[in-house]
Amino acid sequence: MPARVLTITNQKGGVGKSTVAVLIAQYFAYRGLRVLALDFDSQGDFSRPLITSGKCVVSKLTADKVFTDPGATAEDAPFVLMREDNQVLKDLERQPDRYNEFANNVRRFMRRHAEAFDFIVIDTNPAQDIRVLSALVASDFVLAPITLTKEALSGITNLFNDPRTGILAVKSHFNRKLEFLGMLPVMVDERNAIDRECLGLLMGAPAYRQRLLTFVDEPTSGRDFLKLKHRTIWRSMHDSGAVLWELKGDARDVWSSEVEPVMQRIAQLMGAA
Ligand SMILES: Nc1ncnc2c1ncn2[C@@H]1O[C@H](COP(=O)(O)OP(=O)(O)OP(=O)(O)O)[C@@H](O)[C@H]1O
Ligand SMILES: [Mg+2]
Repeated sequence: MPARVLTITNQKGGVGKSTVAVLIAQYFAYRGLRVLALDFDSQGDFSRPLITSGKCVVSKLTADKVFTDPGATAEDAPFVLMREDNQVLKDLERQPDRYNEFANNVRRFMRRHAEAFDFIVIDTNPAQDIRVLSALVASDFVLAPITLTKEALSGITNLFNDPRTGILAVKSHFNRKLEFLGMLPVMVDERNAIDRECLGLLMGAPAYRQRLLTFVDEPTSGRDFLKLKHRTIWRSMHDSGAVLWELKGDARDVWSSEVEPVMQRIAQLMGAA
């Protein structure tokens, strides 16, 4: 099967995109799938933990080359990262006369790597710009981590309806096969009244409910929805590059009871189970 391309996106900052991208890339590699990780965000939050973990080959090419170099090719290895560069990614948005070229290069890059990898995972910057648009145009799947604030919920409308990079616009103008996997609430603390209220809003309003990731096709209770709880372990994972399932003690329990079922379902929805 050709590589399936997954973009993690949400124009809102700090909602767990990079954390989820790291987890998915590491999880697929751990499952023996060939993974190419592309960091389209100059903050480098996807790259850093992957590099620190030492489990992937860091490509000689930085991710900006996916946009600018029509011949860019990743190394031949089971788990490869093309990391962010410091400046070029940021400058792409300032070159509107080259947008078509950038998007075409990204699309062709994915086709060129269709046989070399099973999954290509893209972390994006918190914006709705040419980087995000190019990623969506070249993707098979899109997943949106969300946090439980009212402000974040109202941002969901943009994620779908933005006339330039909204998922609906991308699907109808550029990429009919793009499949929205769903929204994944992260940093959930059900002891917190606001979190509970937002979860209620999400699950109660059909427009939101049908866009949440679920364990079953017909969810009937809160437990049928995927979510990641607020845990301090995420920050230390990020800093140390540790892989959750290799840790002992509480982290191991968090992995097997909360995170592994979420990863398994995401893999299953992308045909990797
Ligand atoms: N489930 C969680 N529990 C606790 N903290 C978390 C969780 N998920 C992510 N975080 C923390 O929240 C912060 C923001 O996460 P992250 O960097 O993944 O967000 P982002 O959407 O990629 O941000 P940006 O928009 O800046 O790229 C990080 O410090 C991360 O460690
Ligand atoms: Mg990020």
